[in-house]
Amino acid sequence: MKELLKNKVAVVSGSSMGIGKAIALELLQQGAKVLLNGRDREKLKSTKKEFAGLGYEVPVVTADIRSPEQCYFLIAETLKSYGRLDILVNNAGLSSRGSVEEMADMNFKLLSETNYTGAAHLSKYAIPYIKETQGNIIFINSAGGFRGMPYNSAYSASKMAQAGLADALRIELSDYGIHVGIAFVGFTKNDPQKAILDVDGSLVYLPKRTNLRLATPESVAQSVRQMIVKRKNSITLTGLGLFANFSIRYLPWFSNWLLMLNRGKIKRNITMIGGEKVKERTINSKKHEDVLSSSKVEI
Ligand SMILES: NC(=O)c1ccc[n+]([C@@H]2O[C@H](COP(=O)([O-])OP(=O)(O)OC[C@H]3O[C@@H](n4cnc5c(N)ncnc54)[C@H](OP(=O)(O)O)[C@@H]3O)[C@@H](O)[C@H]2O)c1
Repeated sequence: MKELLKNKVAVVSGSSMGIGKAIALELLQQGAKVLLNGRDREKLKSTKKEFAGLGYEVPVVTADIRSPEQCYFLIAETLKSYGRLDILVNNAGLSSRGSVEEMADMNFKLLSETNYTGAAHLSKYAIPYIKETQGNIIFINSAGGFRGMPYNSAYSASKMAQAGLADALRIELSDYGIHVGIAFVGFTKNDPQKAILDVDGSLVYLPKRTNLRLATPESVAQSVRQMIVKRKNSITLTGLGLFANFSIRYLPWFSNWLLMLNRGKIKRNITMIGGEKVKERTINSKKHEDVLSSSKVEI
């Protein structure tokens, strides 16, 4: 196999499962050296073991990207492990559901800290090193990042903020040969462990999506790898994602009308889809704060 990213060093935030894990594996298969990240040490250890079984030894760092100090720590540990940094993939993300009126106050903060300011801090601390390698800063965004989406407002607003950051950064960094890419990802097959923020601030496992044509984490990862290699500014994935992009950009009145027309269906499909509550893992709990304070590198 051609190793398109031989000896490049990459850090992928939120790579213990789902799309981030698939991106990490794709980069490893293309010859890159990768560092994994997440908050849950056990989940990271199990991914590390799985990768070792495939022949890839990877360091893992537990760090919560909501904390600027831990973003700094994650980048510093990448430098300590590999001595350079070529690719930052801002993948770690959190999703939610529910109307603005009913939304727990904390949800707005958690979503913007994870999807927006977390990516901003990681990028800020990575820039000096990526300047040296003229590498890539990648943002894993969403088809929900094109415009405010009803009953998914806090998530889509945080992804729109992230998209704004990426656009600004691309211009700011253009004189340094740094590539800034953004992937607008459509509905993707979820890891069974994927949990989202419910309207009341609790975490709930996302029920399996059955009524949609889904991308796979592997196909998303391949598209992201292509974006990195070809230094594309932006990619949009899935048919629904492409349709949303086109209509929101070029026919905003039409997309507004369509959302207005389907608001009842959207409410039912997003807000009231059930899902088992995540036990022992409420994001506001002491347990979560413990994860925050105990971050460390394991090589
Ligand atoms: N799945 C989809 O349909 C879809 C569609 C469009 C866009 N996306 C975007 O794709 C990205 C990945 O989504 P996914 O579905 O793969 O998510 P996922 O299965 O929930 O995985 C999220 C990953 O991020 C980590 N993470 C979450 N919060 C973190 C934090 N504060 N600090 C560090 N790590 C954190 C999680 O590990 P810990 O919980 O252990 O921290 C996990 O490794 C997200 O940015 C999402 O918005 C997904």
